[in-house]
Amino acid sequence: QRIPEVEQLLQKMTIEEKIGQLNLLTPGGGVATGEVVSKDVGTKIKSGQVGGLFGVAGPAKVRKAQELAVKESRLGIPLLIGSDVIHGYKTTYPIPLGLSSSWDMDLVKQAAQMAAREATADGINWNFSPMVDIARDPRWGRIAEGAGEDPYLGSKIAEAMVKGYQGNDLAASHTMLACVKHFALYGAVEAGRDYHSVDMSKIKMFNQYMQPYKAAIDAGAASVMSSFNDVDGVPATGNKWLLTDVLRDQWGFEGFVVSDYTSLNEMIPHGLGDLQAVSALALKAGLDMDMVGEGFLTTLKKSLDEGKVTEADITNACRRVLEAKYISGLLDDPYKYLDSKRPKKDILTDENRALARKLATRSFVLLKNHNNILPLEKKGKIALIGPLADSRENMLGTWAPTGDFNLAVTILEGFNNIASEATVHYAKGANISDDADFAKNVNSLGERIMIDERSPETMLQEAVDLAKTSDVVVAVVGEATEMSGESASRTDISIPESQKKLIRALVATGKPVALVLMSGRPLTIPEEFNMPVSIIQVWHPGVEAGNAIADVVFGDYNPSGKLTATWPVNVGQIPVYHSVKATGRPAPESGEFQKFRSNYLDATNAPLLPFGYGLSYSTFDYSNLKLNKKEINQGEEITATVTVTNTGNYDGEEVVQLYLRDVVRSITPPKRQLKGFQKIMLKKGERKEVAITLSPDDLKFYNAQLEFVSEPGEFEVFVGTNSNAELSETFTLK
Ligand code: IFM
Repeated sequence: QRIPEVEQLLQKMTIEEKIGQLNLLTPGGGVATGEVVSKDVGTKIKSGQVGGLFGVAGPAKVRKAQELAVKESRLGIPLLIGSDVIHGYKTTYPIPLGLSSSWDMDLVKQAAQMAAREATADGINWNFSPMVDIARDPRWGRIAEGAGEDPYLGSKIAEAMVKGYQGNDLAASHTMLACVKHFALYGAVEAGRDYHSVDMSKIKMFNQYMQPYKAAIDAGAASVMSSFNDVDGVPATGNKWLLTDVLRDQWGFEGFVVSDYTSLNEMIPHGLGDLQAVSALALKAGLDMDMVGEGFLTTLKKSLDEGKVTEADITNACRRVLEAKYISGLLDDPYKYLDSKRPKKDILTDENRALARKLATRSFVLLKNHNNILPLEKKGKIALIGPLADSRENMLGTWAPTGDFNLAVTILEGFNNIASEATVHYAKGANISDDADFAKNVNSLGERIMIDERSPETMLQEAVDLAKTSDVVVAVVGEATEMSGESASRTDISIPESQKKLIRALVATGKPVALVLMSGRPLTIPEEFNMPVSIIQVWHPGVEAGNAIADVVFGDYNPSGKLTATWPVNVGQIPVYHSVKATGRPAPESGEFQKFRSNYLDATNAPLLPFGYGLSYSTFDYSNLKLNKKEINQGEEITATVTVTNTGNYDGEEVVQLYLRDVVRSITPPKRQLKGFQKIMLKKGERKEVAITLSPDDLKFYNAQLEFVSEPGEFEVFVGTNSNAELSETFTLK
């Protein structure tokens, strides 16, 4: 349905002004999110050559830019003001992979609402989030920015985030346009190397990768960002099948599509032609806005004159950009997000920091609790050791360009805040990495893995001496912020050797050791996992890092997070994920190698830690799984119930997970797929009956014709505490 205000505006616009609306620039000066920076931005805005800006924030600065557009360009069309608000604006909360580990959709939505309130207070009206790319290769650094490996969970999170950012009314001054990215399949880059190619069958694409994008569109996402990679041989930015046939025609998307940072220009090295050719191709494919590359700005008029694009192509793209401005209320009031009193009122409030702390505690995953070392008592002598234990600059994690690490609480500070009756002594113990070249590369975006002036031996000895004279050791180890995220792929995803040495030495003291493991990805930790230690995975927790970690380490909150990406034994197992298909020659159940079977000579098929895994200070027992029907008709629901009992000594939360196997169907089924979950709270000794209902759509899949169907036959339901859930029941679909 056409919007009269937009149509009237279009009537007044010259072709150059329409093309101008398709141009998104960044003036630089802030944190760089790409290599190129736009030039002569002010002049271009005044001459109607800019539709949106990013990298500008704060009511005063945004007002300046907005005034250039509104007061000095011929038609006075306001600018979209974009930003990457990936895990909080100024109140940075855990990296998205961590947040997803909470499996708590209300909290995810609250997090997005807080981010929107803060960002809009600072003049932002368009967010380059959520990133919903399914990622099954932890070598890829951007696994940190998404919700992990599973399309069902990923879809729920995508929906919660879009609803959180956009609210019910996009014209309200505390909501912002969401931008679903990176469409499509960016998480499936070959070998986990960022910006690499993607090649995948359509069956896999539709059954395993597309759902979260679609869920975000169904939730009303106003914009989509195309990805850097190719899809079926055509870069996403110029892929008509993707941007028009699937996105608009099949899924009914009515918003606008923006490219990634110069991804339009990058179609040239992909081999699709010169700037004019790729710009025309992208416009015709369904791209509406060009981020930074200025391919649209500099070539579309020529392509129009030469008959390579039509005026209607340009008008349609312009209409979509203007409609976004209309629905966010900017056409009515260009200055609506520019109340200079709001930043103080809405940003980094105590309430927001409290939410960030809560979100962080919910994101932590207890991987192992040897001898129940955790939770610690708030007394005695605690040795807090490790290169991340007192490192403010590594607390926020990747893609927090709007956050300020100077405001983060270190773990040392958190321990002193929470356990003031204990004596906490700190020693660094090791560098994050002793490899100067590695440190130099990783440091290119910030001084985050400084190599200490002291020798590694001196640091290690100091830590061991401290450990020996303490009651318990807490070692904070893992990855620095810049070791994950964009352009931060690794081929070795273990803990760096300098820190491994430290861990070995601390364990050798015989003292009880708890590892607080920090990273932006699943790590390979077989050695550490087999040591007599407790391990809690804390990702990069955000601005309240130290307080949140202390809350959990000292038992004020009982950990409840569950992994949303499988942890491999070694990189050779990658990709390893829970929804694998069966093979005709399965490996023996024992895990032992057998010739002519699908297995490895030198490792098991089973990962170190499965999807959905996570312990609690308490224990939960599952029993009495029942289905309310043995047979259902097409279009009917079915409900599974299970009794969950808290059999341990602490109150706690548990994520009850349901997996489904479609036993016989026309396309080889995964052995099991997540199809439902519920997070519950149980007091110690308490028992609850939990019901999870499967909808007709939960039984469907994309068949060889890419139709979304369910096929009659047997289904097996598994319910339990992780993706290895053992209780099972079957039913038949007629
Ligand atoms: O939004 C990001 C994207 O995720 C990666 N390239 C740069 C964009 C804008 O900063």
